[in-house]
Amino acid sequence: MSSTAVVRDLVDPYGRTIRDLRISVTDRCNFRCTYCMPAEGMVWLPKTEVLTFEEIERLARIVVEHFGVDGIRLTGGEPTMRAHLPVLVAKLAALSVPKESASPLAGQPIDLAITTNGATLANCVDELKLAGIARVNISLDTLDRAKFEQMTRRDELPRVLAGIDAAIGAGFSSVKINAVVERGVNDNEILDLAEFGRAKGVEVRFIEFMPLDAEGHWLSDKVVSQDEIVEQIAQVHPLELIPARGAAPADRWRYLDGKGSVGVIPSVTKPFCGDCDRVRLTADGQFRTCLFSTTEFDLRDLMRSGADDVAVAAEVERAVGTKWAGHQINQVNFIRPKRSMSQIGG
Ligand code: GTP
Ligand code: 5AD
Ligand code: SF4
Repeated sequence: MSSTAVVRDLVDPYGRTIRDLRISVTDRCNFRCTYCMPAEGMVWLPKTEVLTFEEIERLARIVVEHFGVDGIRLTGGEPTMRAHLPVLVAKLAALSVPKESASPLAGQPIDLAITTNGATLANCVDELKLAGIARVNISLDTLDRAKFEQMTRRDELPRVLAGIDAAIGAGFSSVKINAVVERGVNDNEILDLAEFGRAKGVEVRFIEFMPLDAEGHWLSDKVVSQDEIVEQIAQVHPLELIPARGAAPADRWRYLDGKGSVGVIPSVTKPFCGDCDRVRLTADGQFRTCLFSTTEFDLRDLMRSGADDVAVAAEVERAVGTKWAGHQINQVNFIRPKRSMSQIGG
């Protein structure tokens, strides 16, 4: 640790302690999911605007060492599209939470995770595991090949299924499936996806569709609510709520027959902002205190202008001082962020 770092909690104006940093390592993606990207015309960030591995490592180290941030999740776009990703993973896996921190992981390595669409996993999963990824979340919205192509605009279901199997076989401490549910598109597959998770021994988390699609086709009636999702599953496989969600976005239920658990991320109908412990770094080094933020803090320019670690930490603290109570999706004054999910990092 640098000698000037004094460990203190990063607490926002609503008393929430920040422990979780989500780092988008690229805005590029090999899919074009309809709820995220347009079919064509995405303009990628020029390479010079994207943080280098050294810059990402530095920012990660600063928030871990100064503030006891104890979890980092790599996102995209599609994070495995970033060349030499395992090199970055190894650098981040070497970070430990300071002993002086109030984090439950004080003195231990950070919890390092990745969220991926799974298409390339069969090729790179062992390397990622070896480099230090502990947990993997993989997107899978449908088990129907034609529907998969319709939703992602890529005919890649077989490769994603192979990627899921590879991740399950690789020995991570957790593998989870993320399924965004959109009414009239894949809501007829909720039970099939839940049963897929039961059969594979992995937790499926259904995600309420959020207004973060690039094409702006989100409408509130396309959201399938947590209540509807849980009811559909529970009619066939009785469920029991697992209490104590903590800061995680998913509410979780266990199957009463003992065959694992299922989650729902109810961002729209039951926002969990009150317990949010996360902040984000975009691929171009902009620091965001909410998925739905309309302001960003430019840590890339700050670093590139020669700021020392203490000055960067101070800017992070200033940003967290502006974190708002929560998003306003359900209110008339809701403003969509200018960037869509793939540019923010899911
Ligand atoms: P773990 O619980 O640690 O496994 O990770 P996670 O669920 O936070 O990570 P993941 O990247 O799998 O996120 C799953 C989904 O949760 C995302 O695709 C988003 O839809 C939603 N999500 C993640 N972070 C936020 C957030 O800050 N706010 C809201 N509203 N939704 C979020
Ligand atoms: N609403 C909810 N989740 C979304 N994701 C992408 N776009 C949306 C949206 N509009 C999710 C993906 C994946 C993660 C990267 O973000 O399904 O789980
Ligand atoms: Fe790519 Fe993920 Fe967006 Fe789909 S949701 S286009 S996989 S970034």
